Amino acid sequence: MNKTGFIFDLDGVIVDTAKYHYLAWKNLADELGIEFNKDDNEKFKGVSRKRCLEILLEMGGLSVSEKQFDAWLVEKNEDYLEYIKKMDETEILPDVEKVLQYLKKKNIPMALGSASKNARPILEKVQLLSYFEAIVDGNSVTKAKPDPEVFLIAADHLNVEAANCVVFEDAVAGVAAANAAEMVSIGIGASEVLQEADYNFNDFTEINVAFLDKLIEN
Ligand code: BG6
Ligand code: MG
Repeated sequence: MNKTGFIFDLDGVIVDTAKYHYLAWKNLADELGIEFNKDDNEKFKGVSRKRCLEILLEMGGLSVSEKQFDAWLVEKNEDYLEYIKKMDETEILPDVEKVLQYLKKKNIPMALGSASKNARPILEKVQLLSYFEAIVDGNSVTKAKPDPEVFLIAADHLNVEAANCVVFEDAVAGVAAANAAEMVSIGIGASEVLQEADYNFNDFTEINVAFLDKLIEN
């Protein structure tokens, strides 16, 4: 049997930081006089910080100097860091740790595959860092999701064939990246949004041991 590797996205899969990203973008959008709502925020999920700002400015029809662009990137991130400063393990999404524990007990290699440059400090805050053999994040990639790079690097670190990797994702761009890497994609969230995923669950409370075993046995 081939070894199976599990790769987890962070924001919206392990912790609900999507709400903090939303608040920080909303604050900046308000400041710039750009309409921005929760539907718009869907487009930001799984997307790099830089690309998010580009989309926001496109929405507002604004074109700005590189200096101003970088200043707003910093402003958004500082605002976001204020929100995540208070995070602790109570913010781990339901049953996520149960799944991590189960896989760890079975010696299944696990990696994080996130677009965020804040992934490591967040994992430290919620005390989940030790589950992962590799952390591949926004600092490790040159191409953002939906490019498969982040997951292919993770598979490489785990020493597992891409075709034997399973990816948990809450973002359309992330599911597309997993599919492009020819991995098994598991959408966490609304199935209408994550139509391209191989499997779909609202959250980890819907994932049982029999399903995990089936994935492990591929
Ligand atoms: C992804 C989020 O995980 O990380 C995106 O889904 C976010 O919404 C991206 O823009 C980058 O995050 P950060 O923490 O580097 O700004
Ligand atoms: Mg996500």
